[in-house]
Amino acid sequence: MANRFGLVLRRPVLSAVTVLAVAGGAFAHEGATGIVKERMDAMERIATAMKRVGAMMNGKTDYEAGEVVRAAETIHRHGGENLTRLFPKDSLQRPTRARPDIWRDWQKFKSLADQVALYSDVLKDAAENGPVGSRQGMQSGVQPDKQSGGGQMMGQEPTDDPEQLRQMPARASFMRLARTCKACHTAFRTRK
Ligand code: HEC
Repeated sequence: MANRFGLVLRRPVLSAVTVLAVAGGAFAHEGATGIVKERMDAMERIATAMKRVGAMMNGKTDYEAGEVVRAAETIHRHGGENLTRLFPKDSLQRPTRARPDIWRDWQKFKSLADQVALYSDVLKDAAENGPVGSRQGMQSGVQPDKQSGGGQMMGQEPTDDPEQLRQMPARASFMRLARTCKACHTAFRTRK
């Protein structure tokens, strides 16, 4: 009796889970398969990590250096060759938004993928500096006008120098990393 009862109860739960999983997948990737799905999944993972750090930078969630380190590590794992290997020549199967220019300007594409690896590593180191101006940043001799890490917001060109960024508030390397995402999408991803 109990067994039969259990089965009856379990079935609707299972199908609800299945429906959710399928709906979620379809919503995100609309039927992508193979390498295209693999890279969309990878991009989603780094986007989730970026959002987590972004929420801390905006003060929407409490800043936790350990969380920033973990997010930076996730992003790092998807940078460099782990990113470029997801783009074998002419892999333009639907519903991809990748542009053929990727393989016409492979050096630029590769260099942006390398920047993901570089600046996520920098962000990991900068995590301990806190989101905005901190004692550590002061002691390292970084000029006060760089303390906000938002040079951009103060009408300054933000720095690209990894060593300088490692000493600066985490916000600076986060912004630099976000700029890398944007640069690659602008050059190599079709608009919706
Ligand atoms: C070297 C180039 C490059 C870099 C750097 C890059 N992306 Fe992408 N990204 C792409 C391309 C190309 C696509 C489209 C892939 C496709 O549709 O096949 C994409 C797609 C995406 C998508 C959509 C995935 C989906 O489900 O369709 C998200 C989200 C994303 N990227 C987030 C990021 C974030 C966040 C970063 C920075 C940490 C980043 N990307 C860095 C090239 C890049």
